[in-house]
Amino acid sequence: MLRTHTCGELRLDHINQHVTLAGWVQRVRNKGGLIWVDLRDRYGVTQLIFEEGSTDQKLLEKASQLGREFVVQASGKVIERTSKNDKIPTGHIEIKAESLEVLNAAKVPPFIIEDETDGGDDLRMKYRYLDLRRNVVRQKLQLRHRMMQETRRYMDAEQFIEVETPVLIKSTPEGARDFVVPSRINPGEFYALPQSPQTFKQLLMVSGFDRYFQIVKCFRDEDLRADRQPEFTQIDCEMSFVDQEDILSTFEGLTKHLFKTVKGVELEEVKRMTYADAMKFYGNDKPDLRFDMKFVELNELAKGKGFGIFDSAELVVGICAKGAAEYTRKQLDGLTEWVKRPQIGAKGLVYVKYNSDGSLKSTVDKFYTSEDLSRWAEAFQAVPGDLILVLSGEENKVRKQLSELRLKMGEELGLRDKNVFKPLWVVDFPLLEWDEETERFHAMHHPFTSPKREDIPLLETNPGAVRANAYDLVINGVEIGGGSIRIHDRPTQQLMFKHLGFSEEEAQKQFGFLMEAFEYGAPPHGGIAFGFDRLCAIFGGSDSIRDYIAFPKNNSGRDVMIDSPSSIANEQLEELFIRVQLKN
Ligand code: AMO
Repeated sequence: MLRTHTCGELRLDHINQHVTLAGWVQRVRNKGGLIWVDLRDRYGVTQLIFEEGSTDQKLLEKASQLGREFVVQASGKVIERTSKNDKIPTGHIEIKAESLEVLNAAKVPPFIIEDETDGGDDLRMKYRYLDLRRNVVRQKLQLRHRMMQETRRYMDAEQFIEVETPVLIKSTPEGARDFVVPSRINPGEFYALPQSPQTFKQLLMVSGFDRYFQIVKCFRDEDLRADRQPEFTQIDCEMSFVDQEDILSTFEGLTKHLFKTVKGVELEEVKRMTYADAMKFYGNDKPDLRFDMKFVELNELAKGKGFGIFDSAELVVGICAKGAAEYTRKQLDGLTEWVKRPQIGAKGLVYVKYNSDGSLKSTVDKFYTSEDLSRWAEAFQAVPGDLILVLSGEENKVRKQLSELRLKMGEELGLRDKNVFKPLWVVDFPLLEWDEETERFHAMHHPFTSPKREDIPLLETNPGAVRANAYDLVINGVEIGGGSIRIHDRPTQQLMFKHLGFSEEEAQKQFGFLMEAFEYGAPPHGGIAFGFDRLCAIFGGSDSIRDYIAFPKNNSGRDVMIDSPSSIANEQLEELFIRVQLKN
């Protein structure tokens, strides 16, 4: 070993010991005859000291030539520091250096490699390997490591078998586009990278594996956001001979296990809410339950009083922001502007201030008497000091808009504490979702999800009303996982494809293998997948999953460090029988 100890290890107990450390030079302070060097590795920082008089002149000179990020090996005696640093665990000692070897010199790094850095996002992405030297960045990946180990521990104890499924597969329609890979030995044919191992895990159930899991990379060619990467990781699971309750309780168990072992948090029981209620009360299928601020519908109270905008609206609906009556005119104008931005798209905002003296003041006083407004306040269970915010318009749109406003108010009022965790099962999702663009129904979860038995007749009459045996785990307003009880017989699967607009031939061509497998003794089964990167980000208190991925892509799907995607040589293209024609 090139070292006797790590840079995070030495304490007062080690005084007078001769040690050898190796690491990176974080900082050099040169006060003429006195040089301090902060030596860093993954475990911490230890201070080396070189002193004129007691240190050999050559050594002193060598130390004075060290630059940031040089890789060095240093030996010396552990001594007690005269001025101690209580901020770091090694802050009571230092190493009086007796030898120093530069193992590798380094160019001046493009940004400062300390917790506080001067590097912008792009620069840090380009030099991700340097950014990963920073404690704050590395710690996020250590958290991910812990979560991975604890996931495996729990799943193994619950009798799940970890099985690797292939990465070169054929398209499975899960809503996003596939990344495809040309096959050289099968000219003109392509593999697809899995959007998830969905069909394989179902086949493993047919094989009798009973309980499968995998921590697995998935690939989706979709628009990127803070919580979406083109390649991401799932904790993917499937179980046989189970109903929805079994799955929910098993994965509630995993969630609690992770919170307890990784964060030391005892999670409360995971609440349940139907999709219909989530939409009605929060305008959203992933409500953030760290705060209440439920929607209250005002059609009855607000219509028919001569206010044309409300009269002509399909839905008048609002929220009550506790204690926000103090909002100034400027703040309220700001909120109005905010809801009117194209991203939100509301026409305007009506508000009612419930002043601390008990009076009610609204932007629509012309149309509503104070008795009218009192009735509104009652509907919201508002008290003096509260602020009521109301939007109106076409039902689906206005719910979405109010949902955004609710989250904004939650943020502004400090109700979205990153150290509070409110998990929720959203259940009874619709089976199908109407797609305006293609003018047909799509599977809301995926085509292998089973409809609720009692809703099957509705498939013929009112497909949009059919509920699925599908569920999502939501934590703090983030969709962490989703799954369903599957169809496990050929006729139902065929019927499902028919309703999704597949011809019999198309269904056979794409999913014949699965439907055939269902004819050889398929057990009832179901499963779920957690977005592992998202779970890590929630644990780490971050909105972006990027920090929890060692080498992530940027918002254009590029890895700027290795410069990918990139063009390939003509010979490679020819070998693959691909002709590239770029449109300008
Ligand atoms: P679903 O498509 O809901 O289900 O995906 C499961 C979870 O994966 C996460 N996720 C993502 N995370 C980061 N970047 C992305 N682009 C991304 N897309 C999805 C989300 C999501 O809840 N096969 C089914 C699971 C099943 O039915 O068992 C599936 O993939 O957290």
